[in-house]
Amino acid sequence: MTCYGENFNMRMYDIITKKKNNEELTKKEIDFFVKGYVDGEIPDYQVSALLMAICFNGMTEDESVNLTESMLNSGETLDLSAFGNYSVDKHSTGGVGDKTTLIIAPIVASLGGKLAKMSGRGLGHTGGTIDKLESIYGFKTSMSTSDFFAQAENTGLAVIGQSTEFVPADKKLYALRDVTATVNSIPLIASSIMSKKLAAGAKSIMLDVKVGSGAFMKSIKDAESLAKLMILIGKKLGRNVSAMITNMDVPLGRYVGNSLEVFEAVEVLNGRGSEDLKNITQELSANMISMIYGYSLDKSRKLVKETVANGNALKKFKEWVIAQGADAERINKNDYLPKAKYKFAVLSPKSGFISSMNAEEIGICACMTGAGRENKDDIIDLSAGIELLHKTGDYISAGEELAYIYTNKNGKEDLLKNKYISSVVISDTPPDKIELIYKILK
Ligand code: URA
Repeated sequence: MTCYGENFNMRMYDIITKKKNNEELTKKEIDFFVKGYVDGEIPDYQVSALLMAICFNGMTEDESVNLTESMLNSGETLDLSAFGNYSVDKHSTGGVGDKTTLIIAPIVASLGGKLAKMSGRGLGHTGGTIDKLESIYGFKTSMSTSDFFAQAENTGLAVIGQSTEFVPADKKLYALRDVTATVNSIPLIASSIMSKKLAAGAKSIMLDVKVGSGAFMKSIKDAESLAKLMILIGKKLGRNVSAMITNMDVPLGRYVGNSLEVFEAVEVLNGRGSEDLKNITQELSANMISMIYGYSLDKSRKLVKETVANGNALKKFKEWVIAQGADAERINKNDYLPKAKYKFAVLSPKSGFISSMNAEEIGICACMTGAGRENKDDIIDLSAGIELLHKTGDYISAGEELAYIYTNKNGKEDLLKNKYISSVVISDTPPDKIELIYKILK
């Protein structure tokens, strides 16, 4: 394949050579390779070579903005301008036990925000909002565009899975990056995430960039570079963007697994739940309210606390899930989630302080219960997962219950218990206090 650009003045070969020599690509060159790849005119092997050159040599800010714009224009986009400044979205770079959307979305909608949101499924050790929502009996994660807009208008909140026509450039590029060891590049991650967020149309976007053992970003420095680049891209392309850098060394909250996480989200909306999850969701919600209304963070935090305390956020959650197909009677009877057949306790092998937990390994353990998928077409068990009874910093005695495992798999008890125990380190001395929120960037 020759792969010449318009008027035969551009060749993929020359674009690869330029990036290999660490020269800046023009907007036309980036548009040419993205369009050529999506249209099937440029083969995988040439795009792979370019991606690898980008991994080694990086991209300038202008290149990153241009790549994002090209990708976002490769397919359908949502126009949420009818919601004006009230349209707001959030994105987490992914982690273990991260059910924040289920809590934040009704909080922000109960305060007047409009969330017409597209979310993803889990893959590997991290979960996805769409799978969690599908664990609610009857909940539908697809609907017509007109119903989607009408629900967002009436309820303030609608969440669906991404359509296949949405940012096709990212679908192709991400699949190729996944098998060519080119996922781990800050400009490629930033353009992948931001192309989808910008195509989803919200005026304000709150990013939760996770850092730690259960996250893509393993150092605060890298997480900050990624966050800064995503903010810059969003602002250059006309949106309001803020980011929080948060800890993912320890799973978030007390539950990992789809229906278990929905249960926990509702606990937080009821004013209960674990402190880490309450704090992070309050802070993310307050930042979103501040972006919508221009209020100070203190005023926004106060409003967020009030809407949980007076029950409005929980009321909004129920209104939302019923609008998307959940059975109102089951919701009112508190019987809307599937339960696993087996529940068994993992006992601590010794006494001491939990000095660290490997969030990624705990995510893998949750996958092994049936809660996650290895390949994108795997069927998952929505009732399976883990309840973490003790987390980093806690003291535990030998033989005390460390966690519960929920599964429908028979005969896997020892395997799952051993996997869990190997993800937790118990020492004689307590660890340093864990920071939950490292930084807020605007
Ligand atoms: N999530 C994305 O959507 N894209 C990446 O490249 C990495 C994480």
